[in-house]
Amino acid sequence: MAVSPSSSPTATRKRPARKVSPTGSWTRALAEPAREFAPTAIETIAGMLPTGLRGALYRNGPARLQRGDRWVGHWFDGDGAVLRVNFDGRDARAVYRFVQTEAYRRDAASETWTQGSYGMKAPQATLTQPVRQRLRHPANTSVLALPDRVLALWEQGHPYVLDPETLETKGRDSLSLADGQPYAAHYKRDPETGEIFNFGVTYGLRTCLNVYCSDRQGRIDRQSKIPLSGLPLIHDCLLAGPYLVFFVAPVRLDLLPVLTNQICFGDALRWKPQFGTQILVLDRETLTVISRGETDPFYSWHFGNGYVDAEGNIVGDMVRYNDFATNRYLQQVGQLDPHTEARGTLWQFRLDPQTGAMLGSVELADTCGEFPIVAPSCVGRYARRTYMSAFRPGSDVARDLWSTIACFDRDTGELTVAELGAHRYAIEPTYAPDADRPDLGWLLTVVYDSREHRSEVWIYAADRLGDAPVCRLSLPEVIPMGYHGCWAPNPKKCG
Ligand SMILES: [Fe+2]
Repeated sequence: MAVSPSSSPTATRKRPARKVSPTGSWTRALAEPAREFAPTAIETIAGMLPTGLRGALYRNGPARLQRGDRWVGHWFDGDGAVLRVNFDGRDARAVYRFVQTEAYRRDAASETWTQGSYGMKAPQATLTQPVRQRLRHPANTSVLALPDRVLALWEQGHPYVLDPETLETKGRDSLSLADGQPYAAHYKRDPETGEIFNFGVTYGLRTCLNVYCSDRQGRIDRQSKIPLSGLPLIHDCLLAGPYLVFFVAPVRLDLLPVLTNQICFGDALRWKPQFGTQILVLDRETLTVISRGETDPFYSWHFGNGYVDAEGNIVGDMVRYNDFATNRYLQQVGQLDPHTEARGTLWQFRLDPQTGAMLGSVELADTCGEFPIVAPSCVGRYARRTYMSAFRPGSDVARDLWSTIACFDRDTGELTVAELGAHRYAIEPTYAPDADRPDLGWLLTVVYDSREHRSEVWIYAADRLGDAPVCRLSLPEVIPMGYHGCWAPNPKKCG
C-alpha cells in the first residue's frame, strides 16, 4: 500500500523532470521519486526465513532526485528515505518513509530545490554564510539504531530522529553538540563496550576534525577537536583495537568560489596529489593524536575494518581509488548517465601506530566494489570475511552500477561473488548475526530487478555467498539503490 506524506503532494503543478530509463537498466529505480509504504507484512517468494534471524534491517539512501522540473546536481543531493524490515523468526514486515527534514518539507511546499547542496549552488548566499548553511540536509547517508530511537545520518549536520518502528520523523537531535559540529555518517561501534565512535569536519577559516565517543545509548561522553590543514574531505574512519585511524586524502575544498556562490561544494573539491595522503592515528580513549604519517596519494570513501596484529601494527582494509574521479562518476549516477571510469578495489594496508608510517599495502582483489563491511562482532578486531557491493563480472565500470555482493575470505584469499542473475542490482550488504547461533550470520541485501521493476530482500548464509539465497521476500514498492544501513538485533523469540 502506497501512502503519500501530507507535506509531499504527488501531483505537482510544475512539469516533473524525466530521464530516459530503459527496461533492464538500473536507472529505472532512480528515475522517479520512490513511493513510501505503511507497515506491511511481506511475502516470502522463495526459500524460508531463518528462525534465528530476529531484529530489524534499516537502510537509507536518496530516493527523490527531482523536484518539479529540476533534477539534482549529484546523487548525494537526493532526499533520504529509510526502509525498515523487521524479522521475528517467522514473519517479516516492512515500512518505507522519507525523512521529513526541514528542507524536505520546504521543498515539497515550493515544488523545487530551495537550498544549495553538495551538487547544487545555493539560490542565494551571502559571503559570510558558513559552508554548512549552504548545504541542504538530505538525511540520506546512513542509519544508527539506538535503544530508543533511530538516527538518519548525513555528513554535515546533526541527525534526524525516527521512530524505530514507524519511521515517523521526530525532529532533529543535536546530541548536545554545537551547531557547527556535524555528526557524520560513518560511526564505528565497539562490539564489547557498545561505545560509538564518530566524527565531523567543521569547514571554515579554522577547519577541524571533531571526534566523538558515545555510550551505547548515544550519549556523547567525550570529544576532541583536531586542527586540519586545508579543507579536506573525510568520509569514513577506522577502529582498530585501541586506535582510531583517519586517512586524509589529497582532496581539498576550494573555499572562495563556494563562498562567492560561483560553484557548488562538490565541484569545488580539487584533487591535489602533491599533498599525498595524510594519516592520523588517534588513541580511542583520549581521542588525541598519537602519530601522523603520509603515504601515496589515493582516495577512499570507505573502510571495511581494522585490527591490531601480533606485532602491534594496525591492519586495515578499504576500497581504494587512484584519484577522485569517483566523485564525477557518482555525480553522473545522480544524472542517470554515468560515463566516468573510477575503479575502486579492495586493498589491505599495514601501518605502525606509533610513527604513522605505512608499512605496506596490497590489492586483495581486482573486482571493482564499494561499501565494504564486516560482521558487527568483528569491528575493530580481526575479521575473516569482508563483504561489499561489487560490479558483476563483465560490467562496464564507467556506465554500470554495483550490481551484486561479494565476500573476500582472508583464510583462503578468495573473492566469492553472488550470482543474482542479469538485470538485477544489489545494494550494500548488511550482516545480521543469528540470534540463536553465535557462529552463524546472515547477509541481507535489497535487490532491484530492473526488468520486473520491483525490489526484493535477499538473505544469504554469510559463509556461503556462492550458494543461492536462503530466502527471498517481495517488497511492495521499488527501493532505489542507496548507501548505508545497519542491523538492530532483537534476541526475543516470537510466539
Ligand atoms: Fe559512505
